[in-house]
Amino acid sequence: MVKINASDYQIELGNLVQSSFSNLLKERYSHSKVVIMVDENTHDNCLEYLLTNFEELKEAEVMLLPNGEENKVMEVCFQVFEALSEYQIGRKDLVINLGGGVVTDMGGFIASIFKRGIDFINIPTTLLSMVDASIGGKTGIDLGPYKNQLGTFTNPKALYIDILFLQTLPAEELMNGYAEMLKHALIADPNYWEELTSITTLDDLVDNDLIKTSIDIKNNIVLNDPKESNDRKKLNFGHTIGHGLEGFFLDKEPISHGYAVGLGMLAESYIAYKRTILQEDKWLDIERVLTSVFPKIEIKESEIPEIIELMKNDKKNFNSEIKGCMLTDIGKCDFDQSYGKKEIEEAIRYLIES
Ligand SMILES: NC(=O)c1ccc[n+]([C@@H]2O[C@H](COP(=O)([O-])OP(=O)(O)OC[C@H]3O[C@@H](n4cnc5c(N)ncnc54)[C@H](O)[C@@H]3O)[C@@H](O)[C@H]2O)c1
Repeated sequence: MVKINASDYQIELGNLVQSSFSNLLKERYSHSKVVIMVDENTHDNCLEYLLTNFEELKEAEVMLLPNGEENKVMEVCFQVFEALSEYQIGRKDLVINLGGGVVTDMGGFIASIFKRGIDFINIPTTLLSMVDASIGGKTGIDLGPYKNQLGTFTNPKALYIDILFLQTLPAEELMNGYAEMLKHALIADPNYWEELTSITTLDDLVDNDLIKTSIDIKNNIVLNDPKESNDRKKLNFGHTIGHGLEGFFLDKEPISHGYAVGLGMLAESYIAYKRTILQEDKWLDIERVLTSVFPKIEIKESEIPEIIELMKNDKKNFNSEIKGCMLTDIGKCDFDQSYGKKEIEEAIRYLIES
């Protein structure tokens, strides 16, 4: 079992049955009501493992959330709040979020504001949530096409990462985790970039050492800047344009968060290259890797202004300027950089499949 200190909680990476989970339930929550948040897929694929291995959960209430980003919204939260009230969940009770980033973001948000905050534990079940979403204390939901507009900074009481849950994850979902792992490499660690880009299949990503490197990169950045005043902004690399794309497609044919971030990283690296901040050989390496995993996309020229409009609502902006990251090398990036409208247009145009 690998134990990693996060700010006021621990991350445990390894077999859940051998982790401190059972003891924590016995010691801290034996008199508490427990609510397990799942979505339809984690209900079918992950819940049974939890219920059969942990008898402490035999009385737990299971809260079934609808699948997908389009349901990471207040309307669903309202229904959950009402159900929590019906179950008479109180301040001393516990929420367990068993799912991908949608469940950990929304379940964490719900727990963080219900009755001014009740404890929650994250058990991520997608690669993306293991390497990124469940770590760092950001909880949140979307508001219309605008990503993560409502949220809190609230840490879980514990975070358990067990790759066993990835056995049932569809292969295309591994690509989403890969996007955030590549992001960690690009902003912080050229050696990790080499490791990640020499895998032969996406299944190679289901590896505790690779996952730990990502956890360490994210956790260390968050430890130094928990509320995103400085360095933590680097973790938004790819997300300025990525969130614009994700929001744009949300009410059409939704694209996954990871794919949106993959395209966002490509477009934002393109801007850095065009500004000659990123050297050509580095750009070509990044372009080769990212285009091989995240194919270019169908966008009409006439749709570009709408995507840019969505980017204007990004939380990182200031004084109505669109701000994002600027990759200066593989493993290095600046943040709080203003993007010009023309260069964003050009970068989005670059993403369009020909
Ligand atoms: N809070 C943060 O710091 C942070 C960071 C990165 C991403 N995010 C958020 O995370 C979300 C994306 O997360 P995601 O990619 O995990 O999406 P997701 O939660 O929608 O999961 C992807 C799909 O996999 C299914 N699934 C989950 N676990 C499974 C399993 N073990 N077996 C079979 N199917 C399974 C889900 O039901 C869903 O259909 C986005 O909303 C994004 O904004 C948050």
